[in-house]
Amino acid sequence: MPWATETLGKVLRKYRNTAPLAEKLATVPYVGKGGEWLDSGRSGNGWWTNGFWPAIMWQGYALTEDEFFIGEARRVQEKILKEMHGYYNTSHDLGFMYLISCGADYKLTGDKDALRETLLAANLLAGRFNPAGKFIRSWNQPGREGWVIVDCMMNLPLLYSATRLTNDPRYAAVARVHADTTNLNIVREDGSCFHIVTFDPYTGKKLSTPAGQGSHDGSSWSRGQAWALYGFTLSYLHTRDPKYLYTARRIADYFLSQVSPDGLTRVDFQQPEDVDMVDNIAAAIAACGLIELSRETGNDVYMEGAVRLLKAMDELSANYDENTCGVLQRCTAAYSASYSRPELERETNIIYGDYFYIEALAKLSQQDPMLWSVG
Ligand code: GLY
Repeated sequence: MPWATETLGKVLRKYRNTAPLAEKLATVPYVGKGGEWLDSGRSGNGWWTNGFWPAIMWQGYALTEDEFFIGEARRVQEKILKEMHGYYNTSHDLGFMYLISCGADYKLTGDKDALRETLLAANLLAGRFNPAGKFIRSWNQPGREGWVIVDCMMNLPLLYSATRLTNDPRYAAVARVHADTTNLNIVREDGSCFHIVTFDPYTGKKLSTPAGQGSHDGSSWSRGQAWALYGFTLSYLHTRDPKYLYTARRIADYFLSQVSPDGLTRVDFQQPEDVDMVDNIAAAIAACGLIELSRETGNDVYMEGAVRLLKAMDELSANYDENTCGVLQRCTAAYSASYSRPELERETNIIYGDYFYIEALAKLSQQDPMLWSVG
């Protein structure tokens, strides 16, 4: 698709120009403010989004063969690996942190150290499995031993990849049990999803479905819907189990029915009518899932939906000025103020919005290195 290839070129040129500025930070870029990168201000270098900077660099390398991107990816990988080796700052987001950084490094360069780190991350993620509840524990706070968030679907490709890399079925088995628990307890009848489900961690009894990053209990936080859409699609691509494809399609149909008339995606599909908060990250993630779904099912509705989302982002929300940092604007970390810092993380660029925008454009240009699958 020539439009996608041209748009991807603009994004990559901007990153080639602005990525060198990241070295001024002791930490990892999270948002761009004018000509500067700022970090997330949380968890040292252990914030869950910190794998996306190297992942953008690996996309840049795969798409341009410019070796600058290898050096910049590894510069930041060194920082985030210290967090994994320190252990306490890790969560279920080991896939976001290490599959699309170290896993990508191994996939694209064959580096054996990167492979070892990827497998270490997979072992830590598998170690979070709770057999009583048949789920992977999400967060670490005391009292949240039985919490499962839909976002975890995107961490499962680390486990599927580990099985392929080691020929040991345990990792993928854990991933499938977790995906089944999510399917049963988080995906609703109409294809929408809760953000969180909580279980008694000793008995596995289901307890509640708090609002989490959405607007209210039982609402439809759009990024949660997008994690589920792409996450179940990836579980299907890794396992070929048709039940994951069926679930992904139900979620995709729901997502597409909720996109606003301007083609943008609001933060929560059930947010009050007088609130106009957009989350383009959700749309970019959903576009990635929809493109894959369209290729798997031959259904053009999913491809048309993805292109509509991406064109709306390109026309209404993207900044291609090569002297400023961050491309995709109107990204919002959460609807609820308690899960984000409203002054910094609403209606701005945020690093993983750019990552998924690049990945979706690369898919449309037939050039995506598919960093969610290694081995
Ligand atoms: N995984 C957390 C989020 O999407 O904000």
